[in-house]
Parts: sequence; C-alpha cells; structure tokens
Amino acid sequence: KVFASEDEAALKVAQNIANIIQKKQAKGEYAVLGLATGATPIEVYNNLVKMYQEQGLSFKNVITFNLDEYYPMQPDSRQSYVAFMDEHLFNHIDIKRENIHIPDGTLDKDKIADYCLAYENKIESVGGLDLQILGIGRTGHIGFNEPGSAPNSGTRLVTLDDLTRRDASRDFGGKENVPTKAITMGVGTIFKAKEIILMAWSKKKASIIKKAVEGEISGNVPATYLQLSDNVTFILDEEAASEL
Ligand code: GLP
Repeated sequence: KVFASEDEAALKVAQNIANIIQKKQAKGEYAVLGLATGATPIEVYNNLVKMYQEQGLSFKNVITFNLDEYYPMQPDSRQSYVAFMDEHLFNHIDIKRENIHIPDGTLDKDKIADYCLAYENKIESVGGLDLQILGIGRTGHIGFNEPGSAPNSGTRLVTLDDLTRRDASRDFGGKENVPTKAITMGVGTIFKAKEIILMAWSKKKASIIKKAVEGEISGNVPATYLQLSDNVTFILDEEAASEL
C-alpha cells in the first residue's frame, strides 16, 4: 500500500495497532505486539502516544516483544534499543513494565542460546504475536536478520553486516564503536506473527524495496522471504515505492 506521505502511512499503521489493542480489550485479552526500532517506526509511536494522551487509548492489556538489541549493550546506554523504546514510546504510555520484552544485550555469551530459546517460548506462551511491525535495513535485513539468514531461523546471536554498522555509525560516533553483533528474533519467529507490516519511507529505501518486493526470493536479501507469507503488508510512502 502506497501513501502520499510518511505521516499518512504512519497514522494508518498506528490506527491498525490501536484497533488490535481495543478489540482485545473488549474481549478482556492481551494484545501481543512485535515492535521495531530505527527511524522508520518513530512516527507510528508518536501517533500511539498521542492516542494515549488525547483519546485515552490504554496499553494496560498490551504485551510487547522487540525484534532485536545490539550485543553487547547495556540497557542504560544511549544507543540501546531499551533507551530508544523508552524515549519514543514506553515512557509516555501506561504499559506495565513487566509486559515489555527486549532482548538482553548484557548476557554472558554462554547464556545466550538458552536465553533466545526462552524468548521464543515466552512469545508462544502468551499466544504468539498478533502483529509484528518491521523496518528494513539497506542490506535487506528485517530485525537484524542479515544476508545469509535462513527462512526458518529463530532468535539468536548474529554478526552485523558492514553496511548495517556503517549506517549505525552516526548514532555511535563512528563505525568502530558500533557493536559487531546483535541478538535478533529470527525470520521464522517473525513469520509466526498473525500479521506483519513492513514500513519504508524515502528514496533511500527505494532500491531495497524493489528487491524485497520484486526480486528473487533469496537469503541474500532476507526481506524477500516475506514474499512467501500471506499475512504481510508493505506500507510505503511514494518515494520508497518509486522503483516498483
Ligand atoms: C536497524 C534495526 C532494524 C531497522 C533498520 C532500519 O538495523 N535493527 O529493525 O529496520 O535499522 O533502520 P531505519 O528505520 O533507521 O532506516
């Protein structure tokens, strides 16, 4: 779906999320949301905060799982995805802290495999993700599933692509400061979501969007795996869709 602007598209996604939350509320159930970081979803989060402040949308029945976190990463570091989510969403809404899940970037290496399995199990134990929102990296990554990721991959420790680290270098004051690894939900984890929305804005994303939507399905561009799912919607602005 192509929208005239990022603002219009982000509002639509926020309304979609609010609908899920309210439908679940009406049934006395939890809404389980898979959340993403990066610049792309910020306007969606701004809209959700506004809906909380101005329309009384409550997040008390919401459980969230974030896609990924750098490794190693301290949660109180400015570049952590914990800090990102607090700044852009969690600090401004009434979600219960115990319902927030973000991969832990502080673990000892030998604990990570068990932790990742537990992360998957936790998602399953609350009924699975009702919705997963995604951005897309210029390598074609979703979450931090870089080129080479398998379609059935689970939550795991991965090595970041050089281009991904270059793209993150501004946040870290130089590529050398960007962690070389991350913990990410897998492609298989994302696929289990009942609904998936991938968002992309601006000219910068046009060529990777063309590959993701029209290119051959291949681990070289993990976002192409989304072509295999019936539950995916790409939400684009005109610039991101300009090469389709
Ligand atoms: C990071 C995140 C991804 C995100 C990507 C794109 O690598 N781990 O989930 O999709 O960046 O970032 P942006 O939205 O800033 O373009």
